[in-house]
Amino acid sequence: MKTIQTLLGGLSVAEFLRDYWQKKPLLIRKALPSFEGLLDPQQLIDLACGEDVQARLVTQHGGKFGLQHSPFEPEDFGHFGKKKWTVLVQGVNHHLPEGTELLKLFSFIPHARLDDLMVSYAPAGGGVGPHFDSYDVFLLQGAGHRRWQISTQKDQTLIEGAPLRILKDFSVEQEWVLEAGDMLYLPPHCAHNGIAEDDCMTYSIGFRTPSYQELAEQFLVYLQDRIEVNGMYADPDLKAQKHPSEIGSAMLGQVEQAIKQVRWDKEDIANFLGCYLSEPKPHIFFDSPQRPLSEAKFRQAVQKQGVELDLKSQMLCHAGWIFINGEEFEAGKDDYPLLRELADHRELPAATDISDECAELLYQWYQDGYLTPR
Ligand code: SIN
Ligand code: CO
Repeated sequence: MKTIQTLLGGLSVAEFLRDYWQKKPLLIRKALPSFEGLLDPQQLIDLACGEDVQARLVTQHGGKFGLQHSPFEPEDFGHFGKKKWTVLVQGVNHHLPEGTELLKLFSFIPHARLDDLMVSYAPAGGGVGPHFDSYDVFLLQGAGHRRWQISTQKDQTLIEGAPLRILKDFSVEQEWVLEAGDMLYLPPHCAHNGIAEDDCMTYSIGFRTPSYQELAEQFLVYLQDRIEVNGMYADPDLKAQKHPSEIGSAMLGQVEQAIKQVRWDKEDIANFLGCYLSEPKPHIFFDSPQRPLSEAKFRQAVQKQGVELDLKSQMLCHAGWIFINGEEFEAGKDDYPLLRELADHRELPAATDISDECAELLYQWYQDGYLTPR
């Protein structure tokens, strides 16, 4: 509890949620007093050059921005000349256990809102320019110093034709220089600009806010595999019509009735959310164990060591349903609390009492590469 209060600058979770979350920025000096970062610039660049990593390289020269996307080669980070630059790596928590541990500190926000841990490195002057994001973010400073400028301005016009979303007019209202362990919370659409003062690494803990349009479109995608609509078109009473190209009202009425059979309830919406929000991003793949343990050996290992989710796994739950990496499973009534425990903490301790049915599920997920004995 003490860590969380320090993390939130002395506020309780309830106070932070009431007064700041989604409402206004909050600067927290020494949010994580001993935090110095989880990796050094070279390790971040090595990560950016990895196969299954989403990374961006932003360069800046004479007010003009350049943007490149991964995959990268080490040579891409060789010669920048006079250009200022920054590299940003998404999903660092998928590669670094310490990244996942860092995210656990933010479990006071539901996992269904979590996006990922992004880490950036920039030498002096580097940054991505003034912009706004459509998610909530905690910007935690690692090594070095970053000047953060923010504005609550309403004008969100972007520079046309720029490779990045850069605000055309940015009027700074407040600014601070953050050092290791300091943190800035920004609600969605709060304009901000971060400029590296020296060799600077920033850890962004991001929480997504999907648009209703995205949710509705994706719900229809989810629904299309699950709907059941009976019957087929028939027109034994067909009447001759003057214009054969016209869709007749009888056809329209019949199809309208057919489509009205498409129904959904709250459980469909909950299960859609569980699948959609736990769905891995397209570049993420799970590695099945190369020489998998037999089910009996797996169960022994879980008894002895406990079990933990793979760093890339996302697990959510709702009302007896478990969602893992975009798949849904109905848990037995007795198994649900245990699986929810696994989803909450990403691990189960040794000597946990696990039913046969639940062990079978865990074994299936082990074979899929979603979890491992600890
Ligand atoms: C950065 O770490 O340089 C950018 C983070 C952000 O502005 O969202
Ligand atoms: Co931003």
